[in-house]
Amino acid sequence: MRKTTILKDNWKFLKADIPCETAVQYAAQGESVTLPHTWNAEDGQDGGNDYHRGACWYVRELSKEETAGERLFLEFAGAAMSADVYLNGTHLVHHDGGYSAFRCELTGHLSEKNILAVRVDNSDSRTVYPQKADFTFYGGLYRPVSLIAVPEEHFELLKDGTPGIKVTPLVDLEKKCAHVTVETWHNGTSVDITVNGETKTVENKAEFVIEDVHLWDGLDDPYLYTASARLSSGDEVSTRFGCRVFACDPQKGFFLNGRSYPLRGVSRHQDLKGKGNALSKEDMAADMAIIRELGANTLRLAHYQHAQEFYDLCDENGIVVWAEIPYITMHMTEGRENTLTQMKELITQCYNHPCIAVWGLSNEITAASAVNEDLLENHRLLNELCHRMDPTRLTTMADVFMLETDSPILDIPDINSYNLYFGWYLGELEQNDEFFDEYHEKYPDKVIGFSEYGADANPAFHSSHPEKGDYTEEYQALYHEHMLKMIEERPYLWATHVWNLFDFAADGRDEGGKHGENQKGLVTFDRLTRKDAFWLYKAAWNHQEPFVHLCSKRYVNRCEDETEIKVYSNQSEVRLYVDGTYYGTETGRTIFRFRIPLLGNHVIKAESGAVSDTMCICRVSEPDESYIFNKAAASVTNWFDAEEVDPACFSIKDTLGEIRTNPQAGAVLEAMMAKGASERGDVADAVKDNPGLQRMMARMTLISLLKQSGADEESIKQVNRILQGIRKN
Ligand code: GCU
Repeated sequence: MRKTTILKDNWKFLKADIPCETAVQYAAQGESVTLPHTWNAEDGQDGGNDYHRGACWYVRELSKEETAGERLFLEFAGAAMSADVYLNGTHLVHHDGGYSAFRCELTGHLSEKNILAVRVDNSDSRTVYPQKADFTFYGGLYRPVSLIAVPEEHFELLKDGTPGIKVTPLVDLEKKCAHVTVETWHNGTSVDITVNGETKTVENKAEFVIEDVHLWDGLDDPYLYTASARLSSGDEVSTRFGCRVFACDPQKGFFLNGRSYPLRGVSRHQDLKGKGNALSKEDMAADMAIIRELGANTLRLAHYQHAQEFYDLCDENGIVVWAEIPYITMHMTEGRENTLTQMKELITQCYNHPCIAVWGLSNEITAASAVNEDLLENHRLLNELCHRMDPTRLTTMADVFMLETDSPILDIPDINSYNLYFGWYLGELEQNDEFFDEYHEKYPDKVIGFSEYGADANPAFHSSHPEKGDYTEEYQALYHEHMLKMIEERPYLWATHVWNLFDFAADGRDEGGKHGENQKGLVTFDRLTRKDAFWLYKAAWNHQEPFVHLCSKRYVNRCEDETEIKVYSNQSEVRLYVDGTYYGTETGRTIFRFRIPLLGNHVIKAESGAVSDTMCICRVSEPDESYIFNKAAASVTNWFDAEEVDPACFSIKDTLGEIRTNPQAGAVLEAMMAKGASERGDVADAVKDNPGLQRMMARMTLISLLKQSGADEESIKQVNRILQGIRKN
């Protein structure tokens, strides 16, 4: 028999980088904590990029009862980022990588009184990923720690955190059967393996055939089988598995069990406002409920291995998953070994989950690194490792927008995917469409996906003239309306993932009225507010639960004669009532628009069949300043909208490409850029050296570039005056 004891209580935490003996000696004076725990729950979420990164200690005495058993192992489901485990002062194991599980054996090191001391360290490192990325690297024992007592004869526990049992189901769709191979690792002589009611006694590996197989069929029917293995000592392991076929076609996109199944969904980070990454099972189940409500059929579990419980939830809910390691943003020449061990652990520990379709090698790795031989070699090794360990799944990669599509790195993974932020960080929305059209035309035989896209929004900010960079709920909604359509028109995209389902902590950020948060979420960090864009996707993806949603409900005070009332719904007809009087009906799909005169206070009701939504808005004489985040940019916009521009001459409304066609206007631009370059050397250099980026910049209007770079109103006006003095042609 196997006994697992979760060590939740009675830990002492010491936030100090001290020797083990000192930690043990002063443990009583430490802070009492329960696991899961992170020391960055507050300082990792409040901005300033100043959260504690260092080594801390967790100390706990193990009771007699807890240490009983023939062979005793200790399991860490996640210790961020590196850990050293000591029992009674003896060092037992060192582990690098904050997102995968690891174990060590305690047998032989136990005595009368047993003191466990764990040094956990999230400081800077040149060897352990991640080191540069847009999220908080929380430190701590933020997932469960357990004792596992097993008999002398038992399943393997040490190697890469293995579950001891590996199931490979290969499905024959025509014959409606599955060939299931079950492998086990143990120190016994034989093992009884059971699948679907059939038991085989073998040395370690058995093959089964399941006739008339019940498929794991995505959201509709995520059926799970169980495989179990038992040794004569009574030690037993079991795992669920699913029988399904994933396939990708460059023209037709993703297939599940032989039918077209475009993967449309979101990404998720594993943190929560106030808790950091120390989540409970209930927190995870609550996240999954929101994902189901949205109607997404895929998740990119970014940017690292998530909790086993979460992959379990994906298995149970039929969500197709992209799993990845935190090989992100910046390649480290001394980090190769760590990418390989993190990948080895990810695949070993997650192999049995039917939800996982692809292994992600890296994310935007060329954002801060050149494509050199070392980086290519690292990717080749990772790719080979994935194929060696798992020939049944494809490998992929999330490419940064400025990575040239003919870069040799794109040839390494089986399929590719791009992260594009046109319409947010730079460029215009249409450039997303153009990018994929060009790619698809140039590479008709390559499978391509859209691994990230998004725009930040703080639900406190609103506008009737939303625009890029204003952080309004309305701009985020417009952005996603465009993207949803763009994606629907391109079914060849094998998967698309909104960045991100939830706002998340990035302590280095300070923007959009919040400190320490990336606000690209469709839902706020505390999960309490679904932004309008959430309802847009729900209208497009959730066909189960009829609803109508009135947009801009938080935009109460409006300073205009006429206002737009926008409704998102998964119904085909929406009726509008203003102050109890029928106003009109719109038919269509997903987005329904009305315009109404704004006279005073109004109660607006949208209705479709049995479902309805209501809001109140009111006419005000002055714009409500509390809705505006970027007051300087807003005033530039106001000035610019009112300004008469002579179209026969150049102006800041022209694109950089147009301006460059004229030597005189081009020289004005160069002079302006050179000034900017001397202020922000690195960025300008990156643009200069990157033809792809230069091409994209050529399509940006000068005004959008100036606003994005934070230029003040006076200098924008000055550049415009100079350009207006230069005639076109
Ligand atoms: C990236 C990256 C994310 C990041 C996002 C953003 O390119 O992969 O980790 O959070 O863009 O800027 O919001």
